[in-house]
Amino acid sequence: MKNTNRELIIVGGSDQANVIYELCKTLNLSVRGFLDTKSPYDFSKFNLPVYNSINKIDRIQKYDYVAGIGHNFSRKCSLHELRCKLDTNHFPKLIHPSAIISPSSKIAGAVTIMANCYIDTNASIDFGALVNVGAIISHDVKLSEFSSIAPGVKIAGNVYIGRNTQVGIGVNIIEACKIGKNAVIGAGSTVVADVSRNSLVYGTPAKLIKRLCPKNIIGNENH
Ligand SMILES: CC(C)(COP(=O)(O)OP(=O)(O)OC[C@H]1O[C@@H](n2cnc3c(N)ncnc32)[C@H](O)[C@@H]1OP(=O)(O)O)[C@@H](O)C(=O)NCCC(=O)NCCS
Repeated sequence: MKNTNRELIIVGGSDQANVIYELCKTLNLSVRGFLDTKSPYDFSKFNLPVYNSINKIDRIQKYDYVAGIGHNFSRKCSLHELRCKLDTNHFPKLIHPSAIISPSSKIAGAVTIMANCYIDTNASIDFGALVNVGAIISHDVKLSEFSSIAPGVKIAGNVYIGRNTQVGIGVNIIEACKIGKNAVIGAGSTVVADVSRNSLVYGTPAKLIKRLCPKNIIGNENH
């Protein structure tokens, strides 16, 4: 969880920032404000400062930062500048108290794990990944950086999820499947075979619908 007593800044300004604000309150963490470069989101109810650039924060080292952005590529881009300037201990993981986390799992900084998730033995979750409510991540699963797992997803053992990949709401993935980077798995799908990078798949069993252009859909690998 959090190893420092620095106040938090929530990076982002959409509904997800609101969700993360509530999670911080549940965890009794003190929120200093929001860093939001472009959103029209109405922050007035929070009565907290909104910084529209990292240059507007007096000393960035004074704070820790958590991701309040659901879209994988936007989350990655928004954390990128801060990540270049700060140690990893400025990016705490946020884990809802109702989540069950195996002691042998490895969870990196800037990861968010929402309510009622189960993270099993030897699972590893890399920087900036988002695991949404009620997801089951079985043993030895790897979630790569900035991937996202939507509510109610069930991932069986030894599955690999590539960077930036989005797994849609209610998806099931059978054991040992490898899902490449920048893929999108449509809501409600059942994945029974590997999915190549930059692919949109959906259905039961999930089938290739189209190839995605990473720079339009989820960003390119230079980020
Ligand atoms: C797969 C997805 C990305 C496709 O989005 P899209 O390209 O805008 O697709 P459209 O809505 O234009 O639908 C195109 C066709 O695909 C079908 N379709 C879309 N998503 C589907 C899915 N998950 N399963 C089966 N069919 C689907 C639509 O019914 C439509 O069929 P039609 O042409 O016969 O009418 C989107 O539907 C989806 O599943 N997103 C995941 C959302 C999610 O899980 N959010 C979690 C937030 S926490």
